[in-house]
Amino acid sequence: MNAPRARIIGTGSYLPEKRMTNEELAKIVDTTSEWISSRTGILERHIAAEEEMTSDLATHAGRRALEAAGCAPEDLDLIICATSTPDLVFPATAAIVQHKIGAHNAKAPAFDIQAVCTGFIYALSIADQFVRSGMSKKVLVVGAETFTRILDWEDRTTCILFGDGAGAVVLDAVEEGGSRGILSTHMHADGSHVELLHVTGGISKGRPRGFDVRHEALGFVDMQGNEVFKQAVKAMGAVAEEALAANGMTVDNVDWLIPHQANKRILQATAKRIGIPEERVIVTVDHHGNTSAASVPLALDEAVRDGRIQPNQIVLLDAFGGGFTWASALLRW
Ligand code: ACO
Repeated sequence: MNAPRARIIGTGSYLPEKRMTNEELAKIVDTTSEWISSRTGILERHIAAEEEMTSDLATHAGRRALEAAGCAPEDLDLIICATSTPDLVFPATAAIVQHKIGAHNAKAPAFDIQAVCTGFIYALSIADQFVRSGMSKKVLVVGAETFTRILDWEDRTTCILFGDGAGAVVLDAVEEGGSRGILSTHMHADGSHVELLHVTGGISKGRPRGFDVRHEALGFVDMQGNEVFKQAVKAMGAVAEEALAANGMTVDNVDWLIPHQANKRILQATAKRIGIPEERVIVTVDHHGNTSAASVPLALDEAVRDGRIQPNQIVLLDAFGGGFTWASALLRW
């Protein structure tokens, strides 16, 4: 019997209602709207309401993906959530999503993946392996973040970049022979650069020295932006080329590049490095900022719903994030 392949049969996304424009941000931190838009291409970001948690964002996006897929929550046999901002230390946000989404009868396994901005492609890759091995048939993969909860709103070098949101896909097993679906995934990590991009505290490390204990977060995002920029472009370029080489393709075969929506300059530099014209790059960062693990599925959902992505087109997903981690996925839509 042929091994099955995983195909995305529905996408969904969700952005919290509250928006914060650059102008509003400039009232609370020493920056200007012009500086933010010219250096990052970001015009606004969304902020989760006080009572809204990552699982709520994930549930909204997951429901929309299930609806688009015509799939009932009970049909799911695996739920994976990529997040660096889980509701709780445990249980996994994916388990909370299973309950909120109403996948009660499925008793499907549910777990989280933590690879920061690369998290969604890591999760997609794992889901793909479960489907290929025959372990799972219908999988919900979500990337969801409340990243604004781990920002230092006095640090203008980081707080201007990030926002909250969620994106999701439903995968289905298709028998090989059909050419549509996930063609390959490639994942990498290098943990030697933690200092360049990390959160300053954590469960095991505790709060950083001098940290105001009234903050609910255990630490804040700390980043050396210039260096991260260079590493991101290099790694996203390399892992895109790896995907194309593995499938005997060139950049000319790619209809759409969907890179991690970190900021417009990183996207432009990555596209240039790969050699793909900007009109074939999906860019949504302007209206939601960097939403970490949610960014790739948010951009994917937007391009599917507005009709840019069409059946049988080749779509290349590409991401880089803390760890460092980086990954790509090549799909025939
Ligand atoms: N408003 C006004 N001025 C600012 C701001 C701000 N928000 N932030 C920094 N500056 C100032 C700096 O203080 C500096 O001033 P100085 O020259 O007087 O010292 C000047 O602007 C230039 O600072 P740089 O850090 O060199 O600015 P750069 O052009 O590199 O832009 C940025 C900074 C936007 C963070 C850029 O480095 C970047 O995009 N890095 C990528 C990081 C990223 O996107 N990380 C996301 C997580 S990883 C990922 O998702 C891939």
